[in-house]
Amino acid sequence: MAGEIPDLSRARLEELQLQRLRDTLRHAHDHVPHYRRAFADAGVTPDDLLALDDLARFPFTAKADLRANYPFGMFAVPREEVARIHASSGTTGKPTVVGYTQADLDTWSEVMARSIRAAGGRPGDLVHVSYGYGLFTGGLGAHYGAERLGCTVVPVSGGMTQRQVQLIVDFRPRVIMVTPSYFLAILDEMDAQGVDPRSTSLEVGIFGAEPWTDEMRRAVEERSGIRAVDIYGLSEVMGPGVSQEAGETQDGLHVWEDHFLPEIIDPVTREVLPDGEKGELVFTSLTKQAMPVVRYRTRDLTRLLPGTAYPAFRRMEKVTGRTDDMMIVRGVNIFPTQIEEQILTVEGLAPHYLCVLSRPGNLDELTVRVESATETYDDSLGRLLAQRVKHRVGVTVRVEVVGPHALERSLGKAKRISDER
Ligand code: DLL
Repeated sequence: MAGEIPDLSRARLEELQLQRLRDTLRHAHDHVPHYRRAFADAGVTPDDLLALDDLARFPFTAKADLRANYPFGMFAVPREEVARIHASSGTTGKPTVVGYTQADLDTWSEVMARSIRAAGGRPGDLVHVSYGYGLFTGGLGAHYGAERLGCTVVPVSGGMTQRQVQLIVDFRPRVIMVTPSYFLAILDEMDAQGVDPRSTSLEVGIFGAEPWTDEMRRAVEERSGIRAVDIYGLSEVMGPGVSQEAGETQDGLHVWEDHFLPEIIDPVTREVLPDGEKGELVFTSLTKQAMPVVRYRTRDLTRLLPGTAYPAFRRMEKVTGRTDDMMIVRGVNIFPTQIEEQILTVEGLAPHYLCVLSRPGNLDELTVRVESATETYDDSLGRLLAQRVKHRVGVTVRVEVVGPHALERSLGKAKRISDER
């Protein structure tokens, strides 16, 4: 059955992982000059992998390695065998290019179908996809997964928010797949059109591609009456569908470990950390053909926990920040999600916000620009938020409350930081 979640014992899964990991290291070594060199520099060969733990002896791969081999240098098959290309635009320079054989696309559809099923989607559901279609992996990844599961897919992509609402009202989807920030924009548009968000046919929201908090989950669920679950992934490893939160437990994301092997490392010392400890997430692909990745450093911070809804598959805790999004304000490390948590405790504020970093004198200053939920508001909202951030996060911020819709809406990933230093 498409998208069925394998019912394996942990021991059987680890056996499978070891076998697939050996094949992947061999494939990467034999077909990608970068890996051949990197393994040689580290003094290892694929034959050195006798147990899963031996992976720690192999070198990491970073975004810079993909850039250095732009565009197709990381491919392990001839370009003619690559059935599709995606790319993610970084903040600077060239995009990161990834490729898939037909077999890879098949695997991806399957893990995405699994993800939708785990979230609470069923064959026959109508699925509204508002992730962007194009080089971004969100739209097409969700699309093929939903088709594979046997759903009716509405490939809306991002944008034209008025029409999104109209299609939701007219087509009556049960599932929506969208970034959490763009879902908020859709809810606002429902309000503007006089559509009660709780009255729609939507029951399940599969939200990802950017960090969002449990506080945001509660707010969105209450406002819309849907069940909101988290989906994670990244282009370099596959796209969406690397890990998925189960709808019935909503307790972190099960990593589909028969295809993606996770590790957590200390981002500074690069030591592997035991399960339960927080650090940087690293992935090795186990079945990819076109572009295998060995110990890819995601820069996402989380921890690994034992499986619950699907016991063989470990969970990763909700990703609350990336090493790149860490703001250091007068010595205190903060992520935008910590600000989001506090915004959601202040009644009268809407969770549309931007963290603006500036350096007016010689000191860094963080200004939180946040929207009021209503047209009329006064300074007290901002003062309350500043107090809560000071008290609970430990940093002094300036708060600038702006009117509803004053901040730019993103159709895809929300921009949470503006660095004006
Ligand atoms: O964002 C893939 C995706 C599409 C995932 C749709 C989920 C839904 P990239 O554009 O390569 O791929 O960006 C990957 O986005 O390393 C994280 O920093 C962030 N990210 C993705 N999902 C989540 C999530 C897609 N659920 C980068 N929570 C990753 C937090 C996420 N961050």
